[in-house]
Amino acid sequence: MLQDKRILLILTGGIAAYKGLDLIRRLRERGAQVTPVLTRAAEQFVTPLSVSALAGHKVYRDLFDLTDEAEMGHIQLSRSADLILVAPATADIMAKMAQGRADDLASTLLLATDTPVMVAPAMNVRMWDHAATQRNLAQIKQDGVSVIGPNDGDMACGEFGPGRMSEPLEIVAAVAAHFGPRPLSGKRIVVTSGPTHEPIDPVRYIANRSSGAQGTALAQALVDLGAEVVFVTGPAEVSPPRGAHVVSVQTAAEMMAAVETALPADAAVFAAAVADWRVRGASARKLKKQAGDLPTLSFAENPDILAHVAQLDSGRPGLVVGFAAETDDVIDNATAKRLRKGCDWIVANDVSPETGIMGGTENAITLITDAGAETWPRMSKTDVSAQLAQRIANALT
Ligand code: C5P
Repeated sequence: MLQDKRILLILTGGIAAYKGLDLIRRLRERGAQVTPVLTRAAEQFVTPLSVSALAGHKVYRDLFDLTDEAEMGHIQLSRSADLILVAPATADIMAKMAQGRADDLASTLLLATDTPVMVAPAMNVRMWDHAATQRNLAQIKQDGVSVIGPNDGDMACGEFGPGRMSEPLEIVAAVAAHFGPRPLSGKRIVVTSGPTHEPIDPVRYIANRSSGAQGTALAQALVDLGAEVVFVTGPAEVSPPRGAHVVSVQTAAEMMAAVETALPADAAVFAAAVADWRVRGASARKLKKQAGDLPTLSFAENPDILAHVAQLDSGRPGLVVGFAAETDDVIDNATAKRLRKGCDWIVANDVSPETGIMGGTENAITLITDAGAETWPRMSKTDVSAQLAQRIANALT
């Protein structure tokens, strides 16, 4: 997949540098040649010896190392790569990149290069959220740097939130997408994702536990294969995919309107957990608590967006894909759902608590098409997405 691609991997100083070691292995397994560069701070977290052993290559550490300058100057080093990957990227290296500073080997390489640059940030959540970091992030993106992650989750410092470096396999997927074939280029795909919020009054709403993880991962995989993705998302927990056109909505009715606006499309994938009901006559004012007087909610049915699009007489996308989260008789229920909704494929999964799939990082799906049911082995949600995206590409091309 990455056969003979030359990757200059800059590790900067964060606890996530240990994942950099695994990243080197994963890149090399796929045929890449990895030339490692360590900052002084990175050496506090991983040793040059382990990095060079895993990379099978000398580690570059010092701007003023005369031997290196004689063998290969920093200009040449930065240009002899097909891609420069900074993982983990600290707040500090992002700040240097945004300002164009060059006071050590890593920052000098980044300034001296005309090679594409990809960064995988990793830092404490407060540092990530800080206005200065967000400003630097916007600047480096504007300068053409691609940014992978960070992910939400538990952090080494004991806090929780965005700032965890993307997993090595996610980074490898982004690198592969950078070099890979783009069979979906020129194809427009609408993806719905996340939960919906149905208001009771201006401050209260009815929601569900969808995180938006699977829909986001699939949209990302479609972008990575070159598709133009319109990503219609309810209030999700995970950050939207890089490179998609994001339309944020709250309610099922808004999601329906956004999907209709996004059509026509070559394919539509409905991964959202749309609320089945909305509150009839939601109040325009906050309902007041009155002792002994309990409000009664009555419901109205929400439009079924998937069924509506799958059954359009004109302007139906060539491929319409639905999802089905089931806890029992998964294949029978999902097969019936495919026919009832009129979609082409259903991606069914067993969300019984004992599977650990809901909220977990792995998924085991059954793909239901007109040819029958195909059960895939359990794998990461990222791998499920990459394979589904490839199937969508095969169907559209
Ligand atoms: O009927 P059920 O909710 O199980 O169907 C799930 C599939 O239908 C998912 O693909 C979901 O995104 C879609 N759906 C929709 N609009 C609704 C309800 C479900 O698009 N109102």
